[in-house]
Amino acid sequence: MRLILLGPPGAGKGTQAKLLVTQLRIPKISTGDMLRSAAEDGTHLGLEGKRYTDQGHLVPDDLIIQLVQECLCSEKANDGYLLDGFPRTVRQAEALETILATRRQSLDAVVNLRVPDEEIIGRISSRRICSSCGRSYHLELFPPRQSGVCDDCGTALEQRDDDEVETVRERLRVYHERTEPLIDHYRQRSLLREIDGTRSVDEVTAAIVDILAQR
Ligand code: AP5
Repeated sequence: MRLILLGPPGAGKGTQAKLLVTQLRIPKISTGDMLRSAAEDGTHLGLEGKRYTDQGHLVPDDLIIQLVQECLCSEKANDGYLLDGFPRTVRQAEALETILATRRQSLDAVVNLRVPDEEIIGRISSRRICSSCGRSYHLELFPPRQSGVCDDCGTALEQRDDDEVETVRERLRVYHERTEPLIDHYRQRSLLREIDGTRSVDEVTAAIVDILAQR
């Protein structure tokens, strides 16, 4: 299965991706995770990408397309994948279409998680993440058992550099301008499936699994 999770920042793409890949037994390809890991390793891509992510801007298409292309053409992606955070522009979507056509493959579905901007600001300012295993917490809704410490691996929790309120507002502005047009792009290709992302995490997962079962 080849699946895209679309949605604004903080819509729950990462949360759902983590749950779905276990159920669907396919790898997750998250450009946000790849950029953060490259930045931590201090690679050229990571440092270059961080200049954009810290401002709430998109990393240039050419860099991202090269990064994803390597992944999609690797053995790991042979039996399908879930894309989280890619594509984010029409140009990236077109590049994906070219990669798929070259490999005689197609997408199964594009799931769009709808969450209003006001809720996103609240969600992201309450988010804390574990830099070691990547688990995400919400300070009020899904707090860790011990304050500031990851339940799974005991690492100290952090706030992402791009989760400051002003940066989140910029990420939302960029989302509406550059990524939202993908909703129509995939609707026209009859691939779009819309989900109300304001429901509980479990309800959203169940709705996505339901949609995939109906294909
Ligand atoms: P990326 O890491 O992809 O960030 P994003 O898309 O902005 O999404 P987030 O990770 O902030 O949120 P999410 O939707 O995964 O929500 P989450 O599950 O964490 O990208 C970061 C940056 O990298 C971008 O800004 C850009 O600069 C760059 N980049 C990445 N890909 C790129 C590309 N293709 N092209 C160019 N640049 C690129 O949930 C958020 C919070 O809500 C958590 O606290 C969670 O616990 C909580 N939550 C989740 N679900 C629910 C629910 N149902 N109810 C209540 N709370 C919930």
